[in-house]
Amino acid sequence: MESYLQSSRFIWSMGALGDPYALLLRGQANPYPLYEEVRKRGPLHLSRVDTWVTADHALGNRILRDGRFGTRTVAGERVAPQFSSLDDSFLKLDPPDHTRMRRLAIPLFSPRHMGTYRPHVEEVCAELLDRLDPVSGFDLVKDFSKHLPIALIRGLLGIPDEYREKFDHCCHGAAQVLEGFVSPEHLGELQLTVDGLYEVFADLMELRAKEPGDDVISRLVAAEREGVLTTSEAIGICGILAVAGTETTTNLVANGTMALLNHPEQWDMLRADPELASGVVEETLRWDSPAQLATRVAHEDVELAGHTLPAGSLVAVLLGAANRDPEVFPDPDRFDITRNTKTEHLSFSGGPHYCLGAPLARMEAAAAFRALAARLPDLRQTGPEERWMSASARGLRQFPVAAG
Ligand code: HEM
Repeated sequence: MESYLQSSRFIWSMGALGDPYALLLRGQANPYPLYEEVRKRGPLHLSRVDTWVTADHALGNRILRDGRFGTRTVAGERVAPQFSSLDDSFLKLDPPDHTRMRRLAIPLFSPRHMGTYRPHVEEVCAELLDRLDPVSGFDLVKDFSKHLPIALIRGLLGIPDEYREKFDHCCHGAAQVLEGFVSPEHLGELQLTVDGLYEVFADLMELRAKEPGDDVISRLVAAEREGVLTTSEAIGICGILAVAGTETTTNLVANGTMALLNHPEQWDMLRADPELASGVVEETLRWDSPAQLATRVAHEDVELAGHTLPAGSLVAVLLGAANRDPEVFPDPDRFDITRNTKTEHLSFSGGPHYCLGAPLARMEAAAAFRALAARLPDLRQTGPEERWMSASARGLRQFPVAAG
């Protein structure tokens, strides 16, 4: 904890000296002007907080795919604070453990499974909108976007009704792990919710060992019995699905809706042609991504963009900045749901850690945008929004709207 306090004081003071990456780490309502400051310093530079930083799409993409970089140090140590029960999740593992555990989760996101999830997603969207009173107004995040991904994850993991309240509470809390923490007290609170999730999964693993179902936890129990993975690794997989799949998708729906309402001509286009919903998803991911940052550690000395990065160097790929790289996306600050770019944005990262849930997130968000445009065509913002302040996650805590 002492080292955390020292490092946040250091970040604060380097920000005061104008270092753009240190300022980004402090959390910004609008990071985009700072991304341009980073871009002006060249494709790769060493920030005052001793991290190499890139806003360049081609270079960022290359780093994410380069086997000389990992998510942990070469000795297997974590570079961020630990959350006991999520330690074994594969998001922060390197090969060969990463490869073994990712392989177990891949079949969940196959096209066959996507087909079965889609009617459920549409049903959940419709039910959530049925419950609202749009004329009196509602909060797009608290009353809509936050409930959609969690309903999906509950189904995927097979969470029984009696665990629903605890699961939802802990899942929303634990998802903030990805956004970072602001104080030692906040870190303590996050750990409690992560522990709560751990308890739910541990209980359900016992239950599914006795009463297997057609759900992810039952499949992980079977794999554990075959000796493919340990209990804590199985819990880590459940944890990363719950944590990585909820807040990010919630933020995608909120960021996209806000972008549409701030660009009425784009909203009108979607209302006229609901098939443009997948264009809204891609453009929101590019223009205002829920995931803004991916960090890596050099496992050996690396020559990159004219610099020598010694083994152990930290590298930050600014995903949200790479997505506005003018070399790849012409007129990058323009929000355009009909944009047709050959190169994919980096919002789902790249290489071995490419987001496993990308097809699910795309499908959920497209269903949400279609449903909003069809059911609430005159949706409007009615009060100030409130943002999460994080360098890695971008989204809204609160977004008051009304329709009709
Ligand atoms: C808009 C929604 C989402 C965004 C923007 C997003 C973004 C990301 C990013 C950037 C990474 C890689 C981080 C890195 O390279 O360090 C990642 C990994 C991951 N995501 Fe997502 N994600 C989203 C939704 C989901 C959903 C719905 C699920 C599952 C239900 C999911 C599951 C995962 C998993 C399991 C990983 C770890 C992959 C690995 O390490 O091999 N994500 N996601």
